[in-house]
Amino acid sequence: MSMALSDFYAVNHNYSTRLSLLTKDSGNDIIAAASAALDLIKNEEVQAIIPQRPAQARFVIELCPISQVPIISFSATSPFLSPSQNPFFIRTTQDESAQVKVIVGIVKAFGWREIAPIYEDTEYGNGLIPYLMDALQEIDTRVPYRSVIPPSSNNTEISEELNKLKANHTRIFLVHMTASLGSKLFVLAKKAEMMSEGYAWIITQGLSFLLDPMGSKVMDSLQVWALAMAVEKAGIVHSSFLKQNASNSNVDLAALDILEIGRKLHNTILTTKFQGLSVNFHLVKGQLEPSAFELFNVIGRTERIIGSWTGNRGFSLDLNDTSEEAYSTSKDKLKQPIWPGCTTDQPAKLRIGVPIRNGFEEFLKVEWHSSTDDKPSISGFVIDVFHAVQDALPFPLSHEFIPYVNKHRQSNGYDELLYQIKTQRYDAVVGDTTIVANRYLYVDFTLPYLESGVLMVVLVKDDDNKNLWIFLRPLSLNLWLTTSVAFIFTVQRLQPTFVDVKEIKRKGYLVGYQKGSFIKGLLMKQLDFDESKFKPFETPEEYHEALSKGILNGGVAAVFGEIPYIKLFLAKYCSRYTMVGPTYKTDGFGFAFQQGSPLVPYISRAILNVTQDQEKIAPIERKYFSSQTNCEDQSTTISSHSPSLGVDSFGGLFLIAGITSMVSLLVYVIKFFFSHWPALSDKNITTSFWSKLVEIAKLFDQKDLSSHHFKREESRA
Ligand code: SER
Repeated sequence: MSMALSDFYAVNHNYSTRLSLLTKDSGNDIIAAASAALDLIKNEEVQAIIPQRPAQARFVIELCPISQVPIISFSATSPFLSPSQNPFFIRTTQDESAQVKVIVGIVKAFGWREIAPIYEDTEYGNGLIPYLMDALQEIDTRVPYRSVIPPSSNNTEISEELNKLKANHTRIFLVHMTASLGSKLFVLAKKAEMMSEGYAWIITQGLSFLLDPMGSKVMDSLQVWALAMAVEKAGIVHSSFLKQNASNSNVDLAALDILEIGRKLHNTILTTKFQGLSVNFHLVKGQLEPSAFELFNVIGRTERIIGSWTGNRGFSLDLNDTSEEAYSTSKDKLKQPIWPGCTTDQPAKLRIGVPIRNGFEEFLKVEWHSSTDDKPSISGFVIDVFHAVQDALPFPLSHEFIPYVNKHRQSNGYDELLYQIKTQRYDAVVGDTTIVANRYLYVDFTLPYLESGVLMVVLVKDDDNKNLWIFLRPLSLNLWLTTSVAFIFTVQRLQPTFVDVKEIKRKGYLVGYQKGSFIKGLLMKQLDFDESKFKPFETPEEYHEALSKGILNGGVAAVFGEIPYIKLFLAKYCSRYTMVGPTYKTDGFGFAFQQGSPLVPYISRAILNVTQDQEKIAPIERKYFSSQTNCEDQSTTISSHSPSLGVDSFGGLFLIAGITSMVSLLVYVIKFFFSHWPALSDKNITTSFWSKLVEIAKLFDQKDLSSHHFKREESRA
């Protein structure tokens, strides 16, 4: 501070006034600070006090109205200490709550959904927390744990607290404390390996001065400069203290004398304006006007400025950039921070477990390009839907996909994968995971992004008939037989080989199920199948082989599968197989998160946003499912497996109707031919059949409709 003063007077050598500094070291002790302040006012007759620590300021502020000695502080940042309520208190910085917007802006920009504040249990520490909590609540960021550290804590106590935080799996911390406690905390956090990759530490303005000595130098010089200017402006050369007639003179405080020019000095400081080093000194209501914040990134012992924040523009790269840019809270406006562990990989990415599939890879495909490659490429319908959902979120969601595999890079099953959310190995699972009740024991699901349900797929008896006779389906065979017995001969219905689960069970036939899925549990618990009677299958080819083999040759009577996979299977194998109900209901495919995760409602809303918007979902469906059918009959596709009725479907009906009409006509003609034989013979008609037909037609043309007889030749004449 004395250096700042020398610099100041070197530049302003024409000033007629000079400040002289008097220092008293009272440490962190409030009582010592109070007594030092009293001593300075009473015995040294100082004309202004600059307390260096927030706790000192607290008591000294109380003395000011009595002695009218201005107190200038940049460290007393607690929102509880307000210049408007404490006359003669001037704050050469903003109050703490001004930085809350910036901190919360950073949390939002990096998409952190959880943060743990660590703060000291003092008025300074506690002062910020209500403002912070309100602001975090507004952006829906959860505070799962708060760590309140008493300033008197020893290293063991601080380490215990850090270990609790570590066990809580929180990775993003906000530290708000004074330098003495802060410096201890960071040393211990490093020992606890919490300064490593995966963690992020945000520090508040007060501590930033500890890590940014230049900043604190700037703020210190600001106070001196302001005071020196005000003293010069007010023309104060000497000032005396006026004696007070104290009624309670036994109290030392009340016996304080009044600084004669105190009020004038105070008012002059309030109106002093100047441009300091990177700070525009301009007081509003007794404190520095909140204008701009610089954001810096501490890497080891160095710091680098990564951007700034102003109320008008939000984040920007350069504080002095005056271009008219729109307000932005995007992290793209900042330089890339280097995170603990010297990485640019953002900490607290969502760790997303992904299942491994073998078969039906249209849904999800995880591919390693070599055996040493640990970053596989992951694609499929599910991944595209997730990315579309991510785009529809109101905040960035940084994540990494981690395939859930055993050491042979094979699947461990979907139930086990979902259970890894409970064990906190993953934060979420993105896959073709079905929403079923028992999984809610360990995860929370989003709303479904695809409908599903479990059905049997079985071989059809006659796979050559296509859909020619589908018009018969609306009525049962018995009804058709009863009503149309005379017309049904050229007909054989398209029938599934099995329709009844009970029958399959009773006869002890084998059934198949989708390997790794919850269907195994459904077969055992809900359908009460004997475990020896079901076999797992993964690929459509395996389904096909097992179903076509025949039950007597070790094949299965039916495969229990989910509708989305069966549709793909049927698209490939056309009308050789069919789905048979009843449908065992599930809630469809959804993404899974930790129980109580605040992300679930956001992701659910974004899923609806995608699935209800054809422009978003249709291209994804087309990309993965449109070319999946080998069927000649395109009506059996993924989107409409149930065959729709077309001209072909009524082919049989037309055939019957046509043949019936022809036969009726023929019968009529023959009958007519014989009943009118004499008339025809009168005319000496040749006996050739076709000539007779022609003659009949002619006679028919001359028919007397009223008598139902043909007119005779003679009568016409
Ligand atoms: N959809 C199945 C499940 O969630 C996997 O095939 O178990």
